[in-house]
Amino acid sequence: MTETTHIAEEGAAPACELIRAPLGLLAELTYRCPLQCPYCSNPLNMEKSPAELTAGEWGDVFQQAARLGVLQVHLSGGEPCLRPDLEDILKHAVAAGLYTNLITSGVTLTRDRLEGLAALGLDHVQLSVQDVDPEAADIISGYKGGAPKKREVARWVRELGLPLTINVVVHRHNIERLPAMIDYAVEVGAGRIEVAHTQYYAWALKNRAALIPTREQFKRSVEITNEARERLKGIIVFDVVAHDHYAVRPKPCMGGWGRNLIDITPTGKVLPCHACEGIPGIEIDNVRTKPLADIWIKGQSFNMFRGTSWMKEPCKSCERREIDWGGCHCQALSMTGDACATDPACELSAFHKDFAKLAEDEAAAPPPPFIYRRIGAYTEVKAAE
Ligand code: SF4
Ligand code: FES
Repeated sequence: MTETTHIAEEGAAPACELIRAPLGLLAELTYRCPLQCPYCSNPLNMEKSPAELTAGEWGDVFQQAARLGVLQVHLSGGEPCLRPDLEDILKHAVAAGLYTNLITSGVTLTRDRLEGLAALGLDHVQLSVQDVDPEAADIISGYKGGAPKKREVARWVRELGLPLTINVVVHRHNIERLPAMIDYAVEVGAGRIEVAHTQYYAWALKNRAALIPTREQFKRSVEITNEARERLKGIIVFDVVAHDHYAVRPKPCMGGWGRNLIDITPTGKVLPCHACEGIPGIEIDNVRTKPLADIWIKGQSFNMFRGTSWMKEPCKSCERREIDWGGCHCQALSMTGDACATDPACELSAFHKDFAKLAEDEAAAPPPPFIYRRIGAYTEVKAAE
């Protein structure tokens, strides 16, 4: 199947006439992680759970996903390498015929383990790099000594012949070192770099004032990225996630709701977007109780914002409505109180000016301390509000 494959279950009456097969599955194997990045996309209320899906359950999910048309599985977390049965999980993904991408901080990996994963059929590694300055990397991640270990892991990945993507989340504390981070990705032999400006939901929303760069810094980072993309053509590919607060039009969040991606949490919840659990009225299904195809095609959560029928003006009659699909619902909810509103990143939103000003004001003030991402810290976060 291809990205444009459309599916319809016999006898089903889905909310949209044509539903595409999803391209990717984000498999969040665990929320445990040795790092504590304050921009983590995992939910605030994550808890340590003895009820994580077993390797066998993931195997069943991967088979269902492959039948549904999924092509790629992203083994993620938290830190997926904290699963002692990662090898079994990978074997199941390979057996299902999925392209496998390991998204890791690398800090717990050994060369032997990576070699074993490559031998089992791992296709790709995506390594997160917090900063090229080791001290700054320690501060942002709340973890000591990550930077030299990551360089070593990057070298092993390339020695083992695996393709490598370096993922950099950009914010006010590392944006001035963006050129050095691009050089780093080239030096370690990455074929792709993801320059992701922080997306302000989950932990990043709590830490927005501590992370947000100025408009000038953002503009300069765009120039740097554009120049590097041109200069490094044929050497490294750039994936860029823009800064919403300084945008004029939004991104198609998640590639469009219910169009490309399925996110499955460590305990089997199936989400159209990793931050969607706070959306009022959303009904979240679980792979433990329903087939994945039913959830994708008929699930209330996936149909909540699928297509364009949910739209109000100005999205409803906008020529970009099938390009950005109205942007990000979680961002609309946090800024306007209505998940059906136009993403405030869009300059046609009535909230756009306030949205941009909020960023400019916070970026102009000294950064507050980080609220680090920790399992069980939700109660402390609530108490501080
Ligand atoms: Fe996108 Fe809606 Fe803005 Fe049009 S009005 S550009 S569809 S967010
Ligand atoms: Fe949920 Fe964008 S983060 S729709």
